[in-house]
Amino acid sequence: MKALVLAGGTGTRLRPITHTAAKQLVPVANKPVLFYGIESIVAAGITEIGVVVGGTADEIRAALGDGSAFGARVTYLPQEAPLGLAHAVLVARDWLADDDFVMYLGDNFVVGGITDVVEEFRRERPDAGILLTKVADPSVFGVAELGPDGSVVRLEEKPPAPRSDLALVGVYLFTPAVHEAVAACVPSARGELEITDAVQWLVDSGHEVRATTITGYWKDTGNADDMLEVNRIVLESVEPGVEGQVDEASEIVGRVRIGPGARIVRSRIVGPTVIGAGTVVTDSHIGAFTSIADGCRISGSEVEFSIVLQGSRIEDAGRVEGSLIGRSVHVSGAVRAPRAHRFVLGDHSRIRIAF
Ligand code: TTP
Repeated sequence: MKALVLAGGTGTRLRPITHTAAKQLVPVANKPVLFYGIESIVAAGITEIGVVVGGTADEIRAALGDGSAFGARVTYLPQEAPLGLAHAVLVARDWLADDDFVMYLGDNFVVGGITDVVEEFRRERPDAGILLTKVADPSVFGVAELGPDGSVVRLEEKPPAPRSDLALVGVYLFTPAVHEAVAACVPSARGELEITDAVQWLVDSGHEVRATTITGYWKDTGNADDMLEVNRIVLESVEPGVEGQVDEASEIVGRVRIGPGARIVRSRIVGPTVIGAGTVVTDSHIGAFTSIADGCRISGSEVEFSIVLQGSRIEDAGRVEGSLIGRSVHVSGAVRAPRAHRFVLGDHSRIRIAF
């Protein structure tokens, strides 16, 4: 069995982060979200991994390499444009050959991994398998309607009036039967070849499509709020440990990991929180539920329930919470300046000002 990991796309919902970076590489507890997916694929015993890449191909290649760091063999499959999830299967057609495969959306997060569902699929081998989970607002997901016997009746992509509260998790299991289904797809109203249409084709043509409802935690990290939520969940089980320096005037409370070369000076760090290598925190309060990446400088500020990417500086900024801050960002307070805000914000930035 192979795995097809989708790491292309445009990532409009995570702008401006995705203007310059792949959304699959945004870190959760200081590790790219994509790595968690690759690790769970390898844990399920699959080591042949095809990675579909688009405009951010170079960055994805630099992060995953040949896959050996994960105990896998990675093949890159360039997709000329993000023309849909079913289009990604089309792009991978030759590489997939006639093998069964698990398709994994590179920005999805499944706590507890996929080992059980992969094993069940291998054992029972229906024509296709989908994973479902109950969600509060199904209209923003692919939604499945099941018959009384639990069989899949209908799939709809982001339906305005959902027929169930069962959303499609971004993990699909396929036999080569999917290739005929994908070949039959036509572009949807949004111009994409939809995987939901391909699975619907399988259902309509009498193939067995097995639905498994998972109870574990799943999140599509499509937007900033989802990223922060996944970060919160993952931090709860982070391995604590201090590799950097903490001065005597500082206090570390709860589950906290501090990377090598980091320095904590006159500050309070409340777990669960991770502080990256070489980051310096001075006269600040960090946490809970916060990931600060490598090489950051935080001084005279409070940062809670946030993700701060590599090389950013937050200085005399007061209290920052629920924020996703990109790479090499500089946030600073201006204590004596007239009461005015000054910004240099990238396209599609979003800020909320407290008065
Ligand atoms: P989506 O999150 O559905 O699409 P997107 O990345 O374009 O994001 P947005 O809606 O914010 O614009 O994609 C799910 C995953 O699949 C994600 O990791 C990107 C990847 N993908 C591809 O690799 N190729 C594609 O053609 C599409 C649509 C997505």
